[in-house]
Amino acid sequence: MTARPKLLITRRLPDDVTKRVSASYEVELNADDHVMSADELLTRAQGKDALLVTPVDKINPDLVEKLPASVKMIATFSVGFEHINVPALKARGIKASNTPDVLTDATADIALLLLLGAARRAYEGERAVREGTWKSWSTVYMLGVHATGKRLGIFGMGRIGQAVAKRARAFDMTIHYYNRSRLAPDLEQGAIYHKTAEDMLPHCDFLSINAPGGPETQHWLNADRIAKMPTGAIVVNTARGGLVDDTALIAALKSGKLFAAGLDVFENEPNLNPAYRELSNVFLLPHLGSATIDTRNAMGFKALDNLDAFFAGRPLIDPIA
Ligand code: DGY
Repeated sequence: MTARPKLLITRRLPDDVTKRVSASYEVELNADDHVMSADELLTRAQGKDALLVTPVDKINPDLVEKLPASVKMIATFSVGFEHINVPALKARGIKASNTPDVLTDATADIALLLLLGAARRAYEGERAVREGTWKSWSTVYMLGVHATGKRLGIFGMGRIGQAVAKRARAFDMTIHYYNRSRLAPDLEQGAIYHKTAEDMLPHCDFLSINAPGGPETQHWLNADRIAKMPTGAIVVNTARGGLVDDTALIAALKSGKLFAAGLDVFENEPNLNPAYRELSNVFLLPHLGSATIDTRNAMGFKALDNLDAFFAGRPLIDPIA
């Protein structure tokens, strides 16, 4: 029997994924699910053929340079791969894959949850019920923003952006979008394309951020761009926290320029800007976009499909390097 490839798995995996991986690989697991430092990751990578990592593992050029020569493949348990320095991997001939498609629906569902939660003041309402500060039904109590029939701007009309648009159409929302390239009519489904994001922003009663993170989009939603949005607009972010300049967003939420925001992702998460915790008009979730059992199993299986392909000498299914 040929030796099974040696695999370091940096975080705990869903049980069904652990079962499958343990059958085909000699695995080193992270039973207590702690976040590994770069030093620990490098130590544990010694002698491994591949790594299965997550968005919390920073695979930066320094770490890539120090990886042992045995490591030939890195699979990330995520669609986003801004935490992986692809050029550094390519320079060392290390292959890498991600997990697109399987988390599209779960992430789009969370975007709609945030959109409605922010618009209808779900956090404040929840808190009032739990804390017993709700006194009586009233015609003017806790009024929110109507979503049905409004305009939704989508920044980044890839798979997840399109799935958000599909759901928003059920609310009769008019879809505007900015994307690096215009979609074909069958994918556009009547959505209004803007050649620049700046052109789109004045049309956004709601804005959903669905573009990849990384240096190109760092702090994309800044004070200048917020100023272009209608007063009273609502921002939803399920992509990456780095796309938002927190100082600018917090100022706009405090001044009333924006009515509310719904955020699932944060710069430096879980250490988000503490000012968010003080604001009643942000609906906050702890990066739950893909957090359903079905989706996390599917992500794990996709990561394993890519590793299996690599070790069988087949092309990767979802190559990023
Ligand atoms: C991803 O896959 O990039 C998601 O952010 C994880 O939920």
